[in-house]
Amino acid sequence: MKNINPTKTKAWKELEDHFKQIENEHMKDMFANDDDRAEKFTLKWEDFYVDLSKNRINEDTRDLLIKLAKECHLDEAIESYFGGESINQTENRPVLHTALRTDKNAEVKVRGENVVPEVQNVKAKIRDFSNEIIDGTRKGYTGKPFTDVVNIGIGGSDLGPAMVTESLEFYKNHLKLHFISNVDGDHVQETIKNLNPETTLFIIVSKTFTTMETLSNATTVREWFLKSVPEEEVSKHFVAVSTNLEKVASFGIDPKNIFPMWDWVGGRFSLWSAVGLSISLAIGYDNFDALLTGAQKMDKHFKETPFEQNLPVQLALLTIWYNNFFKAESEAVIPYSQYLDKFPSYLQQAIMESNGKSVDRNGEKVNYETGTIIWGEPGTNSQHAFFQLIHQGTKLIPTDFIGFKRSLFGDKTHQDKLMANYFAQTEALLNGKDADEVESELKSKGFSQEEIDRISTFKVFKGNNPTNTLLIDKLTPESMGKLIALYEHKIFVQGIIWNIFSYDQWGVELGKQLASKILAEFSVKSVDNHDSSTRNLLKHYIQ
Ligand code: F6P
Repeated sequence: MKNINPTKTKAWKELEDHFKQIENEHMKDMFANDDDRAEKFTLKWEDFYVDLSKNRINEDTRDLLIKLAKECHLDEAIESYFGGESINQTENRPVLHTALRTDKNAEVKVRGENVVPEVQNVKAKIRDFSNEIIDGTRKGYTGKPFTDVVNIGIGGSDLGPAMVTESLEFYKNHLKLHFISNVDGDHVQETIKNLNPETTLFIIVSKTFTTMETLSNATTVREWFLKSVPEEEVSKHFVAVSTNLEKVASFGIDPKNIFPMWDWVGGRFSLWSAVGLSISLAIGYDNFDALLTGAQKMDKHFKETPFEQNLPVQLALLTIWYNNFFKAESEAVIPYSQYLDKFPSYLQQAIMESNGKSVDRNGEKVNYETGTIIWGEPGTNSQHAFFQLIHQGTKLIPTDFIGFKRSLFGDKTHQDKLMANYFAQTEALLNGKDADEVESELKSKGFSQEEIDRISTFKVFKGNNPTNTLLIDKLTPESMGKLIALYEHKIFVQGIIWNIFSYDQWGVELGKQLASKILAEFSVKSVDNHDSSTRNLLKHYIQ
């Protein structure tokens, strides 16, 4: 991969000049001056209709952003990404979550060896295991079929499976899914308090099998299990997903109950691997496979589509436009589907752990902004919570609106109300409401001129707030796979242009190390070796 400081490219300089011309233009005028604007900036692909026209861009902006991508050699980087080069250079690993959903006849080489057959073997193991648990052929130690499945993992070993099983709840079977992630003992106890060890399956998911939270929770659960069940029955109820086969075995998991994964799959991109076993159990293997098919279709679209029509590329370039030129610090993601409640927090890990970096690929401190802050909640709830700030606050917050044409239960009355809000918000964010409109509205309601003068400024919305509208036919395993992969590739494109390494996460290590040190100090009650603030807090805690 090339190491190019994006700010040193010709396109960046041109974008800076272009920004000065466009920064104060109102999108309302852009629409008024161009009847074809919506059509020009809408991308239609399969069941996705993506309207990017409500952005503070014109055709020059789009061309210049594409020029920037080209100057940063995005096309070559995409080849390296899919081709299995070690683009995660700080850990010397390829980044191949795409190989998990590739065609079974494809060839993807890691260090000279085609990994696709091995991926297919693990998929077959996921399929057989899921089928046996779902249809009750595989039973608990007393011969009863399983009723509950508990996923024990954190970060990428939790957020993806938890988000997808909730998103695809409509497609769920009889198994009840639970997720234990936090090392907070109350989280474990709340989850296990109503579980029956006879009918519960535990999946311990940890890529490294060294994560404190996961190992503590797994140990607590195992102890709870062994209170009522003989040790030789553990193998019927505990399985693990990991790259670290030795550590899993020393935890006492039967080797045939280990679902392997690989170091070339990053934790936050691993739901497509055996990390997604809980997904396959919850919705059945065929639906899990459809999720992977959706992602595979998005991979193909990303790899083969010119940048102008390429969904991940266009979304990534817009983020760069707002982050680096408008200096917007955050982006909101608002799904108009309660099923997607966890999607924003899933994206927080995927995006912020990947692109929260301040050193470039040359090892030098960057002189430009990188990763954006991601936040969001489903609409319409979020409208009644934080939308006020997006509409009338001082900050520019580009927002993705994700909606579906059809609801899953087919209740058109509710769906129309939901979607009316979805469309109305993007329209309001675009147009705002100027002083004249406010005044005539108040007049028509019988307000006196004096009252109008007093309150009208508070009622003015400036508008001109950018939004992306992603309108998808229906929430299905396949469309969900496409949606997740869309954001995965968006992350990649941003990392390439910002010239950072998106696939390591050294920043989370320091806190982990200090936590281990402090934990050891609790047992000897010696907490002197800290700054005065931390020392006082620790003393207060252990007293
Ligand atoms: O906290 C960072 C992190 O390393 C994530 O990237 C990862 O998804 C999570 O911890 C869990 O790691 P593991 O799967 O190895 O337990």
